[in-house]
Amino acid sequence: MRGMMLAGGAGTRLFPISQVASKQLQPVYDKPMIYYPLATLMSAGIREIQLISTSADLPIFERVLGDGRQWGIDLSYSVQPSPGGIAQAVLIGESFVQDQPFALVLGDNIFHGPIGLEDEVSTFEGGAVIWGYPVSDPQRYGVIEIDDSGSVLSIEEKPADPRSEFAVPGLYLYDGTAVSRAKELVPSDRGELEITDLNLSFLQDGELRAVRLGRDATWLDSGTHESLLESSNFVASVEKEFGYKVACLEEVAYKMGFVSVEEVARTVESMPSSPYRAYCERAILG
Ligand code: G1P
Repeated sequence: MRGMMLAGGAGTRLFPISQVASKQLQPVYDKPMIYYPLATLMSAGIREIQLISTSADLPIFERVLGDGRQWGIDLSYSVQPSPGGIAQAVLIGESFVQDQPFALVLGDNIFHGPIGLEDEVSTFEGGAVIWGYPVSDPQRYGVIEIDDSGSVLSIEEKPADPRSEFAVPGLYLYDGTAVSRAKELVPSDRGELEITDLNLSFLQDGELRAVRLGRDATWLDSGTHESLLESSNFVASVEKEFGYKVACLEEVAYKMGFVSVEEVARTVESMPSSPYRAYCERAILG
């Protein structure tokens, strides 16, 4: 399965720090934000990945991430000319997905702990799969109602009066019909092609399934100053308490068997002396 990461948007809510770099390049504790969703895709065995961003930010992403060879993956890039919504990414990625199933992750979403993505990817048979995560402020997100058997009863974008506490994180699995479905969408009141409308199209055809995230998984959306700080604090406390790094891409690539220990050694050699390099040496090279 291929993967798409959407790192577009104007990042207006993060002004003035968004003037320095796009939201998804801001630091989340000790790494650029984009490392986290990239680690999520890689941990599910996804190796062909396209990143979509603005023409101004793409060169920076390319400088930071390169072509992915150092992690045994194939990274390509595509421009989102204007912020037209998450579902627009599906249209931009049309030639990349080529009617095949794909995973889409938002560049400002951080997942930690068991989310079941690897299982969902390996058993995916078609339709769409989304996740549901209990939050105290569901009106900020897409919201789903799920029955006891896991079937989705409804999905609404930022409802004033949410029907459940389950927010829909920015992680979606779609079959190849997603592109033709996205072509049918019309922009919402905020002028965007809404991902919730794409999910609704699958729901109407009985093709939408939701995975309920348990309390042992964490989902953070880092799109505001407060949530950005929360994400940094979360990563810092996990790393300090357990002594491992969250989303160390060299470690993920090595554990997934994408690269050999010799390849990691070569990548590490090119890193400046830093706590990140020291961690790679300790955790992977022994
Ligand atoms: C978007 C989606 C929403 C989803 C959220 C997850 O919201 O529209 O359904 O719950 O991402 O981060 P936005 O970030 O555009 O407000």
